[in-house]
Amino acid sequence: MENKQRVALVTGGTGGIGSAICRDLAANGYQVIAGYYSGGSHEKAQKWQQAQAKAGLDMAIAYGNITDYESTKECIEGIQREFGSIDVLVNNAGITRDTTFKRMTPSQWIEVINTNLNSMFNVTRLVIDGMLEKGWGRVINISSINAEKGQFGQTNYSAAKAGIHGFTKALAQEVARKGITVNTISPGYIATSMIMDVPEPVRESIREGIPVGRFGEPEEVARIVNFLADENSGFITGSNISANGGQHMY
Ligand code: CAA
Ligand code: NAP
Repeated sequence: MENKQRVALVTGGTGGIGSAICRDLAANGYQVIAGYYSGGSHEKAQKWQQAQAKAGLDMAIAYGNITDYESTKECIEGIQREFGSIDVLVNNAGITRDTTFKRMTPSQWIEVINTNLNSMFNVTRLVIDGMLEKGWGRVINISSINAEKGQFGQTNYSAAKAGIHGFTKALAQEVARKGITVNTISPGYIATSMIMDVPEPVRESIREGIPVGRFGEPEEVARIVNFLADENSGFITGSNISANGGQHMY
């Protein structure tokens, strides 16, 4: 492992938190691949890649819809052909479709479960064999404070994100003896476009309820990813690390 550059795939890598994770991993010497979908459009991701290159960070981008197993397969196989097997997988892509349960439509439920939970199967299933063969790997799943405490208007999201914790703990046991760790990060409210979809007065009252008095920054999640990805973090597995400014403690 020491002589070879590690390969890291970050799903949703061109988004708010994903971009910070990609930059941090790239700055720490990983070959980073940012996964993207954008409903089938490539332009945004290409511009993102160019902007990172201008900042001195050489990263790859890989197209795939993580809700679709075949699309994900094409994406992962393409990465493996170009870079070899993936050492660090960050399951970061996710969406919200917030509404009260009594108004929630079947498609709002299914979209969130598919993107935030079923994707864990699609992506990880296709990556894990390479890690098993190599006898080393890091799987880092991005959950949420709202998995831990529930959130008004997010039955779909809270259910999907809570499912990630069960997935993490079960898989961690299965691969622990193979040099692979599987962990979850549960960020609180982080300043990205995702929280900008929350109506301003509601968002402001959430901010007021955060003991540190502010939203988190994407870089504050990225540093936890880097920590968990490290060679020396091999004894941490099946764990959850919360980073929420004190909004939820247990
Ligand atoms: N607890 C109790 N009651 C609440 C409440 C809460 N947290 N929020 C709203 N209500 C009540 C309101 O007071 C109102 O009551 P009345 O009818 O008696 O006046 C009623 O519920 C309806 O509230 P709204 O007018 O806000 O209803 P809406 O249909 O316009 O919107 C909503 C509902 C979409 C859930 C909206 O309140 C909302 O967006 N809430 C924020 C949800 C949220 O936190 N999402 C996180 C997105 S970011 C993310 O997900 C990242 C992450 O992991 C942290
Ligand atoms: P974001 O900027 O909206 O990023 C979400 C990413 O998910 C986008 O890059 C998007 O890629 C990708 N994505 C969505 N659907 C996809 C699909 N079908 N296939 C492939 N990729 C898909 O939001 P963010 O705030 O950075 O969120 C990143 C993760 O952190 C999410 O899992 C979110 O739930 C979690 N989180 C966020 C917060 C917060 O407060 N912001 C808090 C806790 C947890 P494209 O645009 O290319 O489709």
